[in-house]
Amino acid sequence: MESAIPGFFQSFDQEFCCCFLIIMILLIFLIFYFARLRVWCNCEICRTYMKSSWKSQFDNLCDWYAYLLKTSPTQTIHIHVLDNTITANPVNVEYMLKTRFDNFPKGKPFSAILGDFLGRGIFNVDGDLWRFQRKLASLELNRTSIRSFAFDVARHEIDQRLIPLLESVKGKEDIFVDLQDVFRRFSFDSICKFSFGLDPKCLELSLPISKFAISFDLASKLSAERAMTVSPFIWKIRRLLNIGNEKKLRKSINMINKLTQEVINQRRKYGFSDKKDLLSRFMAFVSDESFLRDIVVSFVLAGRDTVASVLTSFFWLMANHPEAEAAILVEADRVIGQNKEITSYEQMKELHYLHASVYESMRLYPPIQFDSKFCLNDDVLPDGMPVKKGTRVTYHPYAMGRMEELWGIDCLEFKPERWLKDGVFFQENPFKFPVFQAGMRVCLGKEMALVELRSVALSLLKRFRIELAPPQTTAPRFSPGLTATFHGGLQVRVRAQRDPATLKMSGPL
Ligand code: HEM
Repeated sequence: MESAIPGFFQSFDQEFCCCFLIIMILLIFLIFYFARLRVWCNCEICRTYMKSSWKSQFDNLCDWYAYLLKTSPTQTIHIHVLDNTITANPVNVEYMLKTRFDNFPKGKPFSAILGDFLGRGIFNVDGDLWRFQRKLASLELNRTSIRSFAFDVARHEIDQRLIPLLESVKGKEDIFVDLQDVFRRFSFDSICKFSFGLDPKCLELSLPISKFAISFDLASKLSAERAMTVSPFIWKIRRLLNIGNEKKLRKSINMINKLTQEVINQRRKYGFSDKKDLLSRFMAFVSDESFLRDIVVSFVLAGRDTVASVLTSFFWLMANHPEAEAAILVEADRVIGQNKEITSYEQMKELHYLHASVYESMRLYPPIQFDSKFCLNDDVLPDGMPVKKGTRVTYHPYAMGRMEELWGIDCLEFKPERWLKDGVFFQENPFKFPVFQAGMRVCLGKEMALVELRSVALSLLKRFRIELAPPQTTAPRFSPGLTATFHGGLQVRVRAQRDPATLKMSGPL
């Protein structure tokens, strides 16, 4: 009779060999990976990065990068340990986003990070899949009807939820509100209504936060955290084993999929041709349901935190610049009339100082502080910087807003006037101000975002004076993430607005 023992040892040997082989492959991979990263680089910048010693001089990593870019003669630097070329030179930005667009795609490392959450959605793909969605979405988003729809959505959320919420705390000395949290709820409600035609009512504080909002928040947070792991191997192994954050991510994505599927089913059942939201518009052209889900989820991600981020820094700036706040109110009284509300998108176009103030706020505090692409084939940037295939190339709107060469010696000051010529707003070269990106992949929601930003800014400034809670800082401190977020939120007291004439004379709070 044959013993089972040799068989056991045989299979043990096989398993052992397999494990050994996997470990060796992983080891070789890691050696190549770290060799590429040049973790041993001993140059001053790399040492400062590795030891995080920039923290002794700067509050935020983006401030350190801004300093390095300002002091570089070409406005471009290379961080060896990250294999990352970073530029604040508009000529380079134009080169990567337009002239050699095909050689600087988003690339696999980025799409892998957001792939499970965004699937094949526009935000996360290159090539033909991107081109198809871009064409379709541009067609829809360039219609005038979508702009007035965006205006109506914003107005509804402002009048029905945002204003009542702030009215309820107005003048209450002992109540502080986290305005950043309020804006995040507001922008989520608005973008969901715009994209799906559904309002999750996150601003309705009496209701529990919807499952969709919770799952969406968690999925974006955990996906962003993937980018912060030392190596992608770590999260990929966790995903394979379905443990830790990867388990939570999978659960929240499943919930998002279930809820979006329900909305799509409802639309199919009750019809969508008379609806104005994005999902209904796309349903006329796309029948693949998971693709539909991916397209719309990309829009929600793109349009949510960006808008909340701009509103947060805008109101922080307003609290520090009552003269600009007064100028916005004086202009509104002249164009719309005293104690009157803005009624149309057309009327909004006349508010040049308001528009300039929003742009100036985004120049100093862009919601997406930097954005990276991956170089497909060896290339040389116009300033002479060689870029090897596979290198991460980043343009840095936050640093660009702080370059004297681009904005003059007063570049650190908040001056909406720099955007006005004879009182009329003028558009800067988009490669000098790539806050909405520029070139072939320029933001598709720019017009919609601007409608929303100006509507909220004006409606709140007309009614409320926002007072910052102590301790007040001279500059914000940001939390790490895909979008700029104030660390600790924006705690404020809400007061009734004063007459613009008295506002003008009062200094910063
Ligand atoms: C102030 C608000 C906003 C800012 C600053 C902003 C900025 C940007 C930036 C920098 C990109 C390029 C990202 C990349 O390729 O890595 C982008 C892309 C995009 N944005 Fe926005 N965005 C804003 C609001 C919105 C809104 C409200 C929507 C939706 C209605 C939206 C939809 C999109 C889409 C779909 C893309 C992908 C375009 C493509 O890849 O072809 N954005 N945006």
